[in-house]
Amino acid sequence: METGSRAAAVSLWLCAALSGCFSAINPAQIDPLVYEEQLLWVSGTQGYVNTYRIPLITFTPKGSLLAITEGRKSSSSDVGAKFIAVRRSTDKGSTWSPTSFVVDDGSFPDGLNLGSVVVDEEAGSVILIYTICFHLYHCSPASTMMVESLDDGLSWSRPRNLSVQLGVKAFAPGPGFGIQKRLNPAKGRLVVCGHGTIEGDGVFCILSDDHGENWYNGAALKSIPYNQPKRAQDFNPDECQPVEMTDGSIMINVRNQNNYHCHCRIVVRSLDGGLTLPVDELFFDYNLIDPVVAAGALQKDGVLYFTNPSNDQKRVNLTLRWSLTDGKSWEEKAVQIWPGPSGYSCITTLNSGSVEDQKYIYVIYEKGHKNTVETISFVKLHLYGGR
Ligand SMILES: *[C@@H]1O[C@H](CO)[C@@H](O)[C@H](O)[C@H]1NC(C)=O
Ligand SMILES: *[C@@H]1O[C@H](CO)[C@@H](O)[C@H](O)[C@H]1NC(C)=O
Repeated sequence: METGSRAAAVSLWLCAALSGCFSAINPAQIDPLVYEEQLLWVSGTQGYVNTYRIPLITFTPKGSLLAITEGRKSSSSDVGAKFIAVRRSTDKGSTWSPTSFVVDDGSFPDGLNLGSVVVDEEAGSVILIYTICFHLYHCSPASTMMVESLDDGLSWSRPRNLSVQLGVKAFAPGPGFGIQKRLNPAKGRLVVCGHGTIEGDGVFCILSDDHGENWYNGAALKSIPYNQPKRAQDFNPDECQPVEMTDGSIMINVRNQNNYHCHCRIVVRSLDGGLTLPVDELFFDYNLIDPVVAAGALQKDGVLYFTNPSNDQKRVNLTLRWSLTDGKSWEEKAVQIWPGPSGYSCITTLNSGSVEDQKYIYVIYEKGHKNTVETISFVKLHLYGGR
C-alpha cells in the first residue's frame, strides 16, 4: 500500500511536470471492490414520507458529497406530492448529515420529479433542476424548475421557473447529473439532458453559458413516431446520463424505453457541446443489457464507468462495469454490487486530483429485498481494492 501510493505520488508529479497524461494510476490495474455501503434512506420509516426514489449523487466544489432523492409523501407513484431530500458528507462518504428537505411541493397532485444535479466549478455552485406537473395529472402546464446552493449544499435558493426561458414543453431532466464542460468545445457550458413526455419523448438537452442565469434549448434526439402514441419496439430514447469524454465530446447513455433493436442501452454523442445529437453518432451497446431503467455513468481519468441492473428483463443485479476504450468495449470482469432487486443508480467522484481521490468512485442506487423501492443505498468503491 505504502509503496503503491508513493509510486502513484511520483507519477502524479511526473504527470504535472510532463502534462497531458490523465492518470497517475494505471487504468489496466482497475479491480473495484465495495469498500463500504450504507443505507441513506429507508422507505416507510417516517410518517411523512411513504417512499424514497430517484437517487442522485454529486461531488461539490469544496470536495463534499451530496446525496439527493425524492421523498414521495403518500405513495410510491411517480405522481403526487413530494419533498426533495438531501444528505451531505464532508468526509468522503464515511458519515452523513441528517436529512434536510430542501423543496416541499405541499399537496400538489402531480408534484416534482428529479432531476439533474450539476456542479458549476467556475462559479462554485450546485444547481438542481427538476420538473413539476410532468404527467399533467390534474395540473398544467409542466414546468422546469431550478434551485441553487452557493454554500456547498447547506442552503438552497427559492425555486425558479426555467420554463419562462425554455418554453412550456414538458422536460424531465436526468435523472442523474448534468455536466459543466471542462474542455472545448464550449468549455464552461452547463449541459443538462433529459427526456420529454412518453408521446413526445426523446432526449433533449438544455444549456447555459452564464452559470445558470439563462437557459436555452440545445440538442434533441426525437422518438419515432414523434408526438404520437408508441408501440412496442418503437424508437423511444428516454431517461439519460451525459458524460464528458477526454476529447471534449459528450457521450449520453440512454434508456431504451420500448426496447427498439435490443434489450440494451442506446448511446449517442454530441460533438458540439450539446447543440446537436447526430444520428451518425448513435449506436446500440449490446454489451450493456438493460431492463429499461435509468442507469449511472461516469468518466474518470479516461475510464468510463457504468452501473445498471444488468438483466434484460428484470430490475435485479446492480452491476458496475468499466471501459478503457471510451465505451467501445467493456472489461470482461464486472462487479456485482447487489444481486437482488435494484433500480435507478447514479455515480460520482471527487476530483481534487489527489491520489486519494483517484482511488474511489461513489454509487447511489435503489435497493431492496422484495422490490426495488425499499431503500436508497450508498456505496464507496475502491477502484484498486480487489488487487
Ligand atoms: C412557469 O412558467 C411558464 C411559462 O411562463 C408558465 O406557463 C407556468 O405556469 C409557470 N409555472 C409555475 C409553476 O409557475
Ligand atoms: C448479472 O450481470 C452479469 C454482468 O452483466 C451477468 O453476467 C449475469 O448473468 C447477471 N446475472 C443475472 C442474474 O442477471
